Amino acid sequence: MDYETIQVSKEGMIGTITLNRPQAMNALSNKLVTELISALADFEKDEGVRCLVITGSEKAFSAGADIKEMAGMTAVQMTMTGHFFPLWDKVGRYPKPIVGALSGFVLGGGLELAMSFDVLVASETAQFGQPEIDIGVMPGGGGTQRLTRAVGKYKAMEMILTGERIGAEEAKTLGLVSRVVPKESYLEEAKKVANEIASKSPVAVRHAKMAINKAFEMGLGGGIDFERELFYLLFASEDKNEGMNAFMEKRKPAFKGK
Ligand code: HXC
Repeated sequence: MDYETIQVSKEGMIGTITLNRPQAMNALSNKLVTELISALADFEKDEGVRCLVITGSEKAFSAGADIKEMAGMTAVQMTMTGHFFPLWDKVGRYPKPIVGALSGFVLGGGLELAMSFDVLVASETAQFGQPEIDIGVMPGGGGTQRLTRAVGKYKAMEMILTGERIGAEEAKTLGLVSRVVPKESYLEEAKKVANEIASKSPVAVRHAKMAINKAFEMGLGGGIDFERELFYLLFASEDKNEGMNAFMEKRKPAFKGK
């Protein structure tokens, strides 16, 4: 499908979505959000795609929600359109793993979007922030919750109440990103991680992702019980037999997602 504000491509088992509004630092306009939801839905259905990479440009992953579109909106319009809720819902419950390839500005709704991905590869130039306070609002796409869980109360308070940005190395130290690499290789590195994940059993990957995400929703006891049920369930998969037999036969497994 042809899109205006994103680019979509497929290489082997990896689907890549590139945010593409260079004139606006990849601000999340309504059009971009609608197109992103549509591309996510297509890759979800595509059995050949096992892992996604979502990226922006070297200058900006995304500078957040489109302020020019939001400026004229009333509280009632925000509520009635459910501003971006379908995106958070789609990406927050996405069954396939998503690797974020982040460079430049990762701000506001852009950071909130990235924080709902699964593995984050950042360029050394990436800058992370929740600057909503500077325009008289606050994060509204999960930022107060996900950032706090990622970096703890005091850093989250500092970032959200002052709007100040942090750099990639600090983000890594705080546990906000998975790895930091030179700016020339962040996309390539993200694709490498995605290919690594795609070589595993898609059934095991899907269930492991689900179990990790439950850590944010359940207490420890409930989460451990949930994990154990999924672990046992994987013993019904062909991939479990393939993985364990391949180990014993000293060969590489060929997982089928069955
Ligand atoms: C609309 C944006 C934009 C945004 C940048 N632009 N960010 N347009 N919405 N979020 C546009 C600028 O208006 C400008 O357009 C062009 O992109 C280049 O930006 P500049 O500001 O000229 O670039 P620079 O000086 O390098 O500064 C980059 C920047 C700054 C630091 C990223 O643009 C900035 O602070 N942007 C806003 C960041 C922000 O507040 N994000 C939070 C949004 S609220 P023109 O036409 O002038 O060339 C949010 C809430 C989410 O995300 C809630 C969940 C839904």
